[in-house]
Amino acid sequence: MSVLAEEQTLQITKIKEHIGAEATGVDLTQPIDETTRQQLYDALVDNVALVIRDQHFTAQQYADAASLFGELMEDQNRMYLADGVPMVSVLSNRHKDTSGKQAKVANNATWHTDHTNQEFPPKFTCLYPVALPDSGGGTAVVNMRAAYEALPQDVKDRITDMKTENTLISSARMATANPDIVKVQKESKTPPMIQPLVRTHPERGSKAIWFHKSKTEKVIGMEPQETQDFLEELLETAIKPEFAYVHEYRLGDMLMVDNRSAMHKAGFDFDHSQHRMVYRALVRGERPA
Ligand code: SIN
Repeated sequence: MSVLAEEQTLQITKIKEHIGAEATGVDLTQPIDETTRQQLYDALVDNVALVIRDQHFTAQQYADAASLFGELMEDQNRMYLADGVPMVSVLSNRHKDTSGKQAKVANNATWHTDHTNQEFPPKFTCLYPVALPDSGGGTAVVNMRAAYEALPQDVKDRITDMKTENTLISSARMATANPDIVKVQKESKTPPMIQPLVRTHPERGSKAIWFHKSKTEKVIGMEPQETQDFLEELLETAIKPEFAYVHEYRLGDMLMVDNRSAMHKAGFDFDHSQHRMVYRALVRGERPA
């Protein structure tokens, strides 16, 4: 597929059968026409993850590029933001928590989707590396609608109408979470957010398994620890290698994930004396149903 845009040729190529597409020949710091924008949007939604290569952004340019795909929303962790650009948060292995210790980031390193404790979680998570280790530190993305489709019918029947209760940090994860986030959760008066465990894509009608284990206090009708065990087993059953893609970044990559069909996780398989820093922008989504 190709279309002319400001003397560039947009090329979109599939990465794997079930997940991923790569776009080249577009510079999102320059105006793009509506056809080009829609082709990028559709490539993302159809392929669950889209890598737009060879971008060179300041934090503000990155926010502007992400906003081509919808209204940006604030990251709920307000501790680590790009200077002067509040819609861009910074993920770094060098962050410190307020006690001065290296911040714990382990919750991003397991399969999850973002901000399930919010009424309108982000439909797209956009990641743009600013510093990369020599190797490793990619982001893995998995197609959870393919994972749902491939489940045995009895498992589908059992889970399709389940509901989850979501908080900033579940009680089961407090011991391993950033203490600043645990403190916010302990002081929070916000009631838990009830979400579907299997959500329907508002633009495509497909169903996908959708949760963040660290934010799931419980599946309604289960105890908290039983919930954690159940969700772990569900991931093990549902995720097959052919549904997943590990994006090993090059500087200049903008990785976008359609959270309504995907889960993702950060790769911690790198030399932690080296710096990994990624800008994250979130595009507001719909009420999951
Ligand atoms: C995230 O979980 O949103 C970030 C993943 C990453 O840092 O690769």
